[in-house]
Amino acid sequence: MTSQRTTIGARARDQELLDDVLRTFENAEDPRLRELLSSALRHLHAFVAEVGLTTAEWQAGIDFLTAVGRACTDAQQEFILLSDTLGLSSATEIASANLVQDATENTVLGPFYVAGAPRRAYGDSVLDDPDDGPRAVVRGRVTDLDGNSIASATLDVWQNASNRLYAVQDPSQTLTNLRGRFLTRDDGSFELRTIRPVPYPIPDDGPVGRMLAAAGRHPWRPAHIHFMVSAPRYQTLVTHVFDSGSDYLDSDAVFGVRDSLVVDFEPQPEGGELLARFDIVLQQR
Ligand code: BEZ
Ligand code: FE
Repeated sequence: MTSQRTTIGARARDQELLDDVLRTFENAEDPRLRELLSSALRHLHAFVAEVGLTTAEWQAGIDFLTAVGRACTDAQQEFILLSDTLGLSSATEIASANLVQDATENTVLGPFYVAGAPRRAYGDSVLDDPDDGPRAVVRGRVTDLDGNSIASATLDVWQNASNRLYAVQDPSQTLTNLRGRFLTRDDGSFELRTIRPVPYPIPDDGPVGRMLAAAGRHPWRPAHIHFMVSAPRYQTLVTHVFDSGSDYLDSDAVFGVRDSLVVDFEPQPEGGELLARFDIVLQQR
């Protein structure tokens, strides 16, 4: 009886407290800021109440976020990695893409994109350094939602080497290795040569890695090639093509896999390069 009275009292006090906090943001001039803050506060207060958060647990959370902040450097953004591994980057991509049916799905950008990749011609290889990986050609067409070709669309492409590292992570690689900007031809077609990508672990030597270990999670991403596809009057598409033969397609550490983006890297009858087909549909702005 006593404990029930205490619980009801705590709930009423929580609500009163939340109302007091929300009122302090009512005069924020920007209505969107008001909406974002009041919703976030309602969810955060509900979380505290739902789990009965202890002061020690709250302190552990603060310590963790402090460690995440301290781990951020010019080369590593640990907060984005935290967002990625909690599925929040993917959720935000989905919420903000406004994807229409039949348009190619988007997915996370990741930390290894560097603007200004070298321009490469139709059919060129993105390999600037020696690599023993199996050779692959990626071929496809960029069209609009009605199937019309989009000529001169730019495909900015980046991927990791057979040692699992992207050029920006690995001083032994030329900075332009496995990166390139391709243009589609008049019929919307593109073709690029590369190596078969390999799975790799996201950076896990910081607090996010410790969180993954504490949760019994692995840090691996399935093999993929990144694409950023842009053309005037179309929404820029940030996406990947995933290798259907890869491990970790069902347990991507950053929740980036979409079934529609998984393709076969097929051996060809004449041997030589594997062939991956990836058609891309852009939606208008
Ligand atoms: C990537 O695919 O490059 C990536 C995405 C999110 C976190 C780490 C890496
Ligand atoms: Fe990647």
